[in-house]
Amino acid sequence: MTMLVVKCYSIILFFLIISVYVSSAKPSSNHKNIKAPCKRFVLYYHDILFNGTDAANATSAAAANATLLGNFSFGQLVVFDDPMTKDNHLLSPPVARAQGFYFYDMKSTYNAWFAYTLIFNSSEHRGTINIMGADMMMEKTRDLSVVGGTGDFFLTRGIATFTTDTLQGFYYFRLKMDIKLYECY
Ligand SMILES: *[C@@H]1O[C@H](CO)[C@@H](O)[C@H](O)[C@H]1NC(C)=O
Ligand SMILES: *[C@@H]1O[C@H](CO)[C@@H](O)[C@H](O)[C@H]1NC(C)=O
Ligand SMILES: *[C@@H]1O[C@H](CO)[C@@H](O)[C@H](O)[C@H]1NC(C)=O
Ligand SMILES: *[C@@H]1O[C@H](CO)[C@@H](O)[C@H](O)[C@H]1NC(C)=O
Ligand SMILES: *[C@@H]1O[C@H](CO)[C@@H](O)[C@H](O)[C@H]1NC(C)=O
Repeated sequence: MTMLVVKCYSIILFFLIISVYVSSAKPSSNHKNIKAPCKRFVLYYHDILFNGTDAANATSAAAANATLLGNFSFGQLVVFDDPMTKDNHLLSPPVARAQGFYFYDMKSTYNAWFAYTLIFNSSEHRGTINIMGADMMMEKTRDLSVVGGTGDFFLTRGIATFTTDTLQGFYYFRLKMDIKLYECY
């Protein structure tokens, strides 16, 4: 009899632990009261860092040099005006531009901090979306905050999930940005 009770308790405890674990492992969509995104789209960000001779094609440039702190470009500031495309082809027609900067801010690994505006000026969308946050480059996906918007994206907020789509040396990388907006007006 007592064995059965103990067994029951341990089974209940087991499921309790599992459910707590599962709920804490779930992404932000598990937050209370959060609805599905009111708008969601995927765009690709192409960054071609100026190497001193490719001015015609470069879309970004180091505006401040890296420091000697660590081996991961700590302190380097890159300003960009990058094309955003609907698929991952660099030469696809851009649907928006990403204008802003990132800088490297960890001495023990590559880690960057982004702040930029997506500027839309097409028949499809007109307006801006402002995004900022940490790009922990060693993580498979990274969530940055959508902190506001204008025009078609008036007062929006949400999450932009980054995935590194390709990394070709130091001078070209492409990010997949899965943009989920939770406030639309
Ligand atoms: C810069 O990039 C261009 C285009 O990829 C390449 O042709 C050129 O040789 C590069 N210059 C240097 C200094 O690496
Ligand atoms: C640079 O841009 C020009 C003009 O768009 C293009 O012909 C050339 O192939 C590009 N070079 C590289 C290395 O992408
Ligand atoms: C940045 O540092 C590199 C290596 O020390 C140097 O070659 C380059 O000229 C510096 N660039 C600027 C803009 O100071
Ligand atoms: C940076 O790399 C060099 C050569 O690989 C190494 O000797 C040095 O200790 C590294 N510095 C740091 C801060 O890790
Ligand atoms: C947006 O596009 C229109 C039409 O192509 C153009 O007249 C206008 O100058 C553009 N505005 C900006 C800020 O690029």
